[in-house]
Amino acid sequence: MERLDKILAATGRWSRKEVKELVRQGRVTACGRAVLRPEEKYEPTDDILVDGKNVRCERFTYIMLHKPGGLLSATEDKHQRTVLDLLPEHYRKQGLFPVGRLDKDTEGLLLLTNDGELAHRLLAPKSHVDKVYFARIEGRVDGQDVQAFRQGITLGDGLECLPAQLRPLEDGSACLVTLQEGKFHQVKRMLAHCGKPVVYLKRLSMGSLKLDHSLPEGGWRELTQAELTGLRKDVGEG
Ligand code: URA
Repeated sequence: MERLDKILAATGRWSRKEVKELVRQGRVTACGRAVLRPEEKYEPTDDILVDGKNVRCERFTYIMLHKPGGLLSATEDKHQRTVLDLLPEHYRKQGLFPVGRLDKDTEGLLLLTNDGELAHRLLAPKSHVDKVYFARIEGRVDGQDVQAFRQGITLGDGLECLPAQLRPLEDGSACLVTLQEGKFHQVKRMLAHCGKPVVYLKRLSMGSLKLDHSLPEGGWRELTQAELTGLRKDVGEG
C-alpha cells in the first residue's frame, strides 16, 4: 500500500501539492469512497477516480535515450543491435518500446516506454506534438523550400505530408525541420523531394521533451517528473 498522493503524483499528471488540493476539493474517490486525506493508503492497482474518471496508476517506465547512429529502433532483431541493447537487463524485461522509430543512421532523442496510451497520443498527428530534427544536407535549403514545407509536400509516391516548418541554419547547408507526424523516412524524403538529400539527421525534441545534451551518444536516463508532466500536457492529458 502507498499514500494516495504518492500514487497519483507518480502518474506524472499532478504534483503532490496539486493532489492535496484535489482531495481538499472532494474530487478524488478510491475504492468507491471519497478520499478525505492525501495520506490515505491504497494499492496503485485500486480504482482511483479523479472527477469521476478512473486514473490509471500502474507504474510505467519512461526513458530518454540519446540514440547513436548504427542501432535499430526496434525491441529485438535476430542480426542487428537494437536500442534496447543499451539498457540494463532489468529494463529490458519491462516491455519497453521506442515511441516512433528513428532510422538506423539517425541520432538523437528517443523515448522508450511501456505506456502504450501515451506513446499512441504522442505519435497521433491529431495531437499536434512537434518533433524537431536537425539536418545537414547536400546543397542549401532556400526560401522556396521553406514555402514548400509550409504548404505541405506531396511526395513522388503520392504521399501527402502535413504542412511542416523548415528553418535554414548557417549558410543553408543545415536546417531545423518541425513535423507533427512521423511517416517512414519522412524528413529525408521531404528534403530529397526538394533536391537536398540529407547527410546527417538528429532528433532534438518531441513536444516539450528536449534531448538532454549532457547525455553522451548511447546514454540514457529516466524522465524527470516535470518532463513526464510536460509530455502529458502536450497530449492534453495534463
Ligand atoms: N525522418 C527521417 O527521415 N528519418 C528519421 O529517422 C526520422 C524522421
